Amino acid sequence: MAGHTDNSIVINAPMDLVWDMTNDVESWPRLFSEYAAAEILERDGDTIRFRLTLHPDENGTVCSWVSERTPDPATRTVRARRIETGVFQYMNLYWEYEEVDGGVRMRWTQDFAMKPQAPLDDEAMTARLNRNTAVQMQRIKRIVEEAAERAAGGVRFDHTGRRVLVTGGTRGIGRAITLAFARAGATVLTCHRQDGPAVDSLVKELAETPGDHRVVKADLGKPADVDRLIGECRSHLGTLDVVVNNAGAISHVPFERLEVDEWRRVLDVNLTAAYLVVQKALPLLAAGASIINVGSKVAGVGLPLRAHYTASKAGLVGLTRSLCKELGPKGYRVNLVAPGPVETEEEVSPETRERYQRLTALGRLGQPADIAGAVLFLASDLGAWISGETLNVDGGI
Ligand SMILES: NC(=O)c1ccc[n+]([C@@H]2O[C@H](COP(=O)([O-])OP(=O)(O)OC[C@H]3O[C@@H](n4cnc5c(N)ncnc54)[C@H](OP(=O)(O)O)[C@@H]3O)[C@@H](O)[C@H]2O)c1
Repeated sequence: MAGHTDNSIVINAPMDLVWDMTNDVESWPRLFSEYAAAEILERDGDTIRFRLTLHPDENGTVCSWVSERTPDPATRTVRARRIETGVFQYMNLYWEYEEVDGGVRMRWTQDFAMKPQAPLDDEAMTARLNRNTAVQMQRIKRIVEEAAERAAGGVRFDHTGRRVLVTGGTRGIGRAITLAFARAGATVLTCHRQDGPAVDSLVKELAETPGDHRVVKADLGKPADVDRLIGECRSHLGTLDVVVNNAGAISHVPFERLEVDEWRRVLDVNLTAAYLVVQKALPLLAAGASIINVGSKVAGVGLPLRAHYTASKAGLVGLTRSLCKELGPKGYRVNLVAPGPVETEEEVSPETRERYQRLTALGRLGQPADIAGAVLFLASDLGAWISGETLNVDGGI
């Protein structure tokens, strides 16, 4: 006789999120309560070989083994097996994901046989695995559904009736901020520099979100375009409750080859545009308005090849501090959110991802929704006495 388990759970979240989160083996110590560590040993195409370590049992014994796992995104299935079988003669696992009413059904089957000398026989191990799987699946469901709620943006904050300008809202962090405000009840106006599918898809998503939102083409590196952008805010929104200076430019250039034009381009978009946007927006600011600049954690750390970028972001800290003093008496708050490494549409190599994961205390890169959450908090009434602050949102780097 051999052992067999078959368990499933429906997770109310998009397929991509369920797939990505549950196949990110490095994050399993967060996802599963039983694992103390998950270490990737080898990658070979789609197959990964990894070591899992359980938390010590009541006798202090630590159990650890190597497994191999091959996810197939095309069929949404995963085949896995233990390489170091321990008390098992063999252990083969099969995961299956299927879109159903109410979300994604994630199904795990395990086929195994115990060694004759193992403390549990097939039947007892089947019962133990079934008990533990139910606990782990419930935990995973909760964590993934919470992430889905965060990614959907802003449900925890109510910005109904607020009028919001977000610069650079078509991609990355700005897109998450824009959609989060819109979904939290605000009317949002955002801008971009270049045309493309990101603009079209944002326009579509905003059209499906209640509110009369607007996407405007304006190059913030050009003062005349900033004037035009604020003119659009005046005619479309009338007043502004929130201004988010998010648009940013970056490049990687050795300092000795950093040309003045490139220095100016980056400073213009990251720093000068923020000064111009706030200055031109002043007559539109409503009582209690909140200004949020998106800086960067590296401004206070430094980074080779990014002297112009870090200088511009450090400049934003000074701008934030001075404006908090100068605009505070009018009742306006000015803060800065400093993201750590955030995963956007930009490709990240597995090496870079692993390096950043190791750097962050929370063991993962940020998601745009993580930054949007901080921005929505600062702009909300819960942040009513916060001004001049730099809020690092970096997973604990
Ligand atoms: N991603 C990170 O890891 C990270 C970390 C720390 C700080 N940040 C900061 O967070 C902000 C957003 O970063 P991100 O990674 O989300 O950037 P991103 O993916 O490159 O998106 C930038 C957005 O800003 C717009 N934009 C850029 N230049 C513009 C200009 N001259 N005029 C108008 N719009 C312009 C872009 O529109 P187009 O497509 O039209 O160019 C796009 O919508 C930036 O200030 C960045 O410095 C990011």
